[in-house]
Amino acid sequence: MEKLSMVTSLLCAITVAVLAVAVVGGEAAVVEHTFVVHEMNATHLCNTTKIYVVNGQFPGPTVDVTEGDTVVVHVINKLPFGLTIHWHGVRQMRSCWADGAGFVTECPIPPGNEHTYRFNVTGQVGTLWWHAHVTCLRATINGAFIVRPRDGKYPFPTPAKDVPIIIGEWWELDLIELDRRMMDGNFDDNPLSATINGKLGDLSNCSRMVEESFILDVKHGESYLLRVINTALFSEYYFRVAGHTFTVVGADGNYLTPFKTDMVTVAPGEAIDVIMVADAPPAHYHMIALANQPPEPDPQIPVFTSRGLVRYAGATANNNGLPVPMPIMPNQHNTMPSYYFHANLTGLAHPERHRVPMHVDERLFVTLGLGSICRGQNTTCKRRRSPETIVVATMNNVSFAHPKTTALLERYYDGTSKGVYTEDFPIRPPRPFNYTNRDLIPPGPLEEALEPTFKATKLKRFKYNTSVEIIFQSTTLMQSDSNPMHLHGYDVFLLAQGLGNFNAKRDVRKFNYHNPQLRNTVQVPRGGWAAIRFVTDNPGMWYLHCHFEFHIIMGMATAFIVEDGPTPETSLPPPPPEFKRCGNNGLSQP
Ligand code: C2O
Repeated sequence: MEKLSMVTSLLCAITVAVLAVAVVGGEAAVVEHTFVVHEMNATHLCNTTKIYVVNGQFPGPTVDVTEGDTVVVHVINKLPFGLTIHWHGVRQMRSCWADGAGFVTECPIPPGNEHTYRFNVTGQVGTLWWHAHVTCLRATINGAFIVRPRDGKYPFPTPAKDVPIIIGEWWELDLIELDRRMMDGNFDDNPLSATINGKLGDLSNCSRMVEESFILDVKHGESYLLRVINTALFSEYYFRVAGHTFTVVGADGNYLTPFKTDMVTVAPGEAIDVIMVADAPPAHYHMIALANQPPEPDPQIPVFTSRGLVRYAGATANNNGLPVPMPIMPNQHNTMPSYYFHANLTGLAHPERHRVPMHVDERLFVTLGLGSICRGQNTTCKRRRSPETIVVATMNNVSFAHPKTTALLERYYDGTSKGVYTEDFPIRPPRPFNYTNRDLIPPGPLEEALEPTFKATKLKRFKYNTSVEIIFQSTTLMQSDSNPMHLHGYDVFLLAQGLGNFNAKRDVRKFNYHNPQLRNTVQVPRGGWAAIRFVTDNPGMWYLHCHFEFHIIMGMATAFIVEDGPTPETSLPPPPPEFKRCGNNGLSQP
């Protein structure tokens, strides 16, 4: 951000003061940060807006650790409302209390208060990220979370440099107001632009004031590890650099079998690690991040892009007077490149890490879609996007009612869940239908019979060490978006993905038990399904939700309770001393 005040530049200095004892290949260190969350003015497209940031930065500071380190982050909340910070993808083995999921693992840190998150990072290497986890605040309160290998060795040639590529959105609308509108079933609001590392890019301008682009400086012949993270509230993105190709080497903090491609697809919540070799003739090349979306009759959003630049050392400022090559992007309505990209990835076969459970103790079949409830106290109302309804999002036709004054983990731990949640999350949809029939999108008319739903806080409880298989089925109920499903506290094996309705007889043959991807965010294809498996080895309360912000706010969420195992080593310890219980300061809602 260009307009840093004195105060915020001072705050930046604080982040740099990481009290890490860096020991390469040596003992685990403690990496300590102070995050001051505050309001700041930012000017884009001729307007100055108030935004919410950490330490004066958008995106926020990078947390950079070595596998095995302990992370300590002091969050000081200077906003006029509460917030939490979630460490997206960090497994939090036996440290569920530090997960930072608002109203799930903790109540928001009230204005003027502070909270310390303390957790270990073990068994993960690559890219994760962190973000605010209440309302829509994660649009500007986010940053990269890098985990480096302890022995300093990658399963690929060590890159010259690594660079987070954070794809996000620029919102002029206040994020708290946006949240209020989405809760009311209104998703007509849109960001003004896509961003790459906070830059709108030079395709955006207003009154001939061109927006700044993200610039990646490279040297010919060197290789770069790009950590591509999607922090956007709304869209999946295609990312391409003219004249260059990528080798995908990791995702969500786990290595992948190297996969060559000329385009990366990244859904909200995903982090994709790619190697880009600067092997083109030294010059300037454009990079583009382009949001995709389903074609009509799905509700349409504007085209979002951000254009950046790859600049070779030695190339002249005007690129020798030559035009800068532009990457050729797919049509924004073509979602097939996303399907192929995701389906082509496999885990880097590792005997320790790829022991897929071959038996299944519990099976869930979960449909993902929209629905509607009647406004006011009415029990009947006109459907099909009528103003008499509030559009909500569902899993197995339940729209999650997010608690607003208490945290689920606390209630579970204290045994005081009565009146807060029930444990009857349905393990299959109430009635089967042709999930991917395009006639379920308004104007319909088939959706009318299927869209009525209800709000409830229904969770699913698992015994420790249960092997769970979930088939996620994206539906076309009222819209046909994909669904990037994110499970806290776990990396799950992604066994297979497919288009259309999941058919057990035909589709289990596609399951990859040998080297599936390990992911914390699984992109369930548009009009398709994804099959995952995991073992409940991490006790606690774990949020499961779609990472599209309007889906989560509208209720495409639930939480998994994982019971304690038989020993202290397999049980959730009591809350740490610094943990603050809900309602301690009379403030619980942002
Ligand atoms: Cu990025 Cu609930 O997560």
